Order: sequence, then C-alpha cells, then structure tokens
Amino acid sequence: MSRLHAAPAGAPAGSPAAGFGLPTRLGVRIAGTGVALPADLVDNAKLAETVDTNDEWIRKRTGIAARRVASDDDSVVTLGADALRLAMDDAGIEGAALDLVLVATMTGAMSCPSSAARVAAAVGAKPAGAMDVVAACSGYVYALNLASTLIESGRYRRIGIVGAEVMTRHLNFDDRRTCVLFGDGAGAAVLERVETDGAAGGNPAGAAELPGCVYQSMGSDGDAWEALYLPRRMADVPDSIDTSVHTEPGWNGKLDTLQMEGREVFKFAVVKICDLIDEALDAAGLDAADLKLVIPHQSNRRIMATAQHRFGLPEEKLYINIDRFGNTSAASVAICLDEVRRAGRVAPGDWVLFIAIGGGMSWGCSLWRM
Ligand code: UT7
Repeated sequence: MSRLHAAPAGAPAGSPAAGFGLPTRLGVRIAGTGVALPADLVDNAKLAETVDTNDEWIRKRTGIAARRVASDDDSVVTLGADALRLAMDDAGIEGAALDLVLVATMTGAMSCPSSAARVAAAVGAKPAGAMDVVAACSGYVYALNLASTLIESGRYRRIGIVGAEVMTRHLNFDDRRTCVLFGDGAGAAVLERVETDGAAGGNPAGAAELPGCVYQSMGSDGDAWEALYLPRRMADVPDSIDTSVHTEPGWNGKLDTLQMEGREVFKFAVVKICDLIDEALDAAGLDAADLKLVIPHQSNRRIMATAQHRFGLPEEKLYINIDRFGNTSAASVAICLDEVRRAGRVAPGDWVLFIAIGGGMSWGCSLWRM
C-alpha cells in the first residue's frame, strides 16, 4: 500500500490556522517543553579508553564531563518526536493542534524528506507544515525567532519547535580535537499565541504584560564557513587544505565527519557571545542585572564564562549544563530551556535571553519576556 495519502476529507488547504484575522496585540508563550536523550552515557574516562585524551584536559578546556551517545535506533526523528511529545503533554495539546513543526538540526538522516515532516507525522501533527532549520548550533534560536514571529503575525496559533542532533554519528573518533566535544539529544517546545481577551491561552493581565519575544536577531558570515563544516565529498573540502595531512586544522581525514578549526571558532565565539548580549540589552533598554537568565548555546564553558565575567552575571544567571551533555549543537538551548522550566527557574514576567553561535558561521539571539 502506498504510504502517500491525500489530505483527509474536509481538511483545510494550507496551514490549519491560515486565514485568521489579525488581532490588535498578540503575545507568545512557551506552553510546554520536553527533552529526549539517548540512554548511553559516556564519560571522559570511558572516551579516553579509545582515544588519546584524558578527563583533566577535557574538563579544563571545555567543561565537559560526559555526553549522551545515540544508539543505532536513535535518530533526529525518534529523539525529536519523543521530545516534542513530552512538550505537547506539558502544554496539554494533541498533535492536531499544531500548525507548524520546525526541526533545527544539522544531522538529519536525509535532506529529503525533512526530519520535521517525519517528526510531525510521528506526533500526529498532520497536516501541519513542517521544515528543517539548518543553521548548525544556531538552529534552535533561529527556530525560536521564526516561530515567535509567525505566531505574532496572527497567521499561526501553535508551533512545535525541536532541536535534535545525533552529532556522534558524524565524528571521527580518531580525532581528539573534535570527538570529545559533542553529544546527542533533543529538546522541544510548544509555542502558543496569547491574546489580550483572557480567553483560553489568553492573558487577562493586559497588553503591557504580554509574554513573547521582545527582541531578536539572526546573522551569518558564509565567507567563514571553512572553520566548521561537514563534508560529504572530497570536493567539499576547502582548496586551501592539504588533505594528505589529517591533523591540519579543519581536516581529520574522514568524510561525513565534523571538521573544525577549534581555535578560530573559539576566538570568534568568545567575541560574538558578548556582542549579542550587548546588542539585545541595548535594543531592549535593559541592564544585565534585569535578566533572570541567559541561556547560551553550550559550546565551551570557557566561552560562556567570558560572557559571565564581562557582564558580571552571578553564576545562577547563566545556565550551564555542558558538563552533562557536551555540545549538542542545535539541541543544546532546547535542552537548557526544558531544564530551567522544570526546575522552576523562570516565572511569568522574567527576562530570558537565548544566544547561539555556530557553523556557517551563524549566530542569533532571542530576548523573551516569559
Ligand atoms: O558549537 C560551536 C562549535 N564549536 C565550538 O565552539 C568549539 C570552539 N573551540 C573550542 O572549544 C576549543 O578551541 C577546543 C576545545 C576545541 C580546543 O581547545 P584549545 O584550548 O583551543 O586547544 P588547542 O586546539 O589550542 O590545543 C591545545 C593542545 C594541543 O596540543 P599541543 O599542540 O599544545 O601539544 C592539542 O593537540 O591540546 C591538544 N589537544 C588535546 N589534548 C588532549 C587537543 N584536543 C585534545 C584532547 N585531549 N581531546
């Protein structure tokens, strides 16, 4: 039997929410979150059994103590769907209530179909729109920005956003410069429209108190792509690289594995993370002290610590979980968001700033009034 089905009779054309009028003022709330992690936990000592590294180096240089590693059965689709199901449970909705599903990932199994289409089907979100957001480690912050803006437009009511990665499937485990850094997992959130009328999902407090994304930006510099890339063919490898040397910065000798000029990415990220915080605070007229939490992409503890010191953020204001998960690329901010919500560390009215920097090079920020 064909797996392709026509839209069910009576289903509206396009997005289920398309065609609604524009209310005067709309907010967006994070109605639910969820996380899915592979069962296999690999600590630094275990990694050091097979690659020339050690626990002390990894902890000191990165802050990482352990990471989750996907099994053969795990994928961006299975982990992403599990995380989104939990987010939907948390939000108290069924799949049919979602208008759109965005999956931020750089490790989807195939470029066609999108991982998002399969995640949407797995959670019963047909015929919601679905697409992948491919912006490496910045993907989830990009998805947050896109989803909140689409909801604010009045055209969409509820959007599921997922950050999911199986990074360890794309690492060369002979290359200690990259293989110790990354981990696997998924996080998801359901974003929902809030109106001033106080109806279901509404906000009786009035327009001034509406939650949502108050400031956002997304940027890229494609001229710098060679610092971080995942080549499929030898033709993808930059001409400047001598591919006979497998220890060159940016080349480890194995296709379909992540290539990185670690020091270059570090230098870029350490400046950019501070620029993004400055930019968001300036745009919103806030001081660092006004922020309840900064949730940065978990790339390296030293990068995050630089921002913490520069802005005088007390430890509890900069969320860090890289010690437990490593760098999970597009999943990292998503996993952090679920953890802070479940720990009760954010409340309505709090200012929360999400930041990410990654391959592309790409970067983005999203400042929220919760
Ligand atoms: O999500 C965005 C993508 N990625 C990032 O944000 C990563 C950004 N970069 C970084 O986090 C850091 O550059 C790394 C953690 C990748 C590397 O740290 P580093 O302090 O920049 O180290 P390095 O590359 O300068 O290497 C220093 C030494 C070298 O040895 P020699 O030449 O000084 O003898 C490396 O061979 O550390 C050695 N080394 C290691 N030693 C033990 C590199 N990797 C390892 C390792 N274990 N895993």
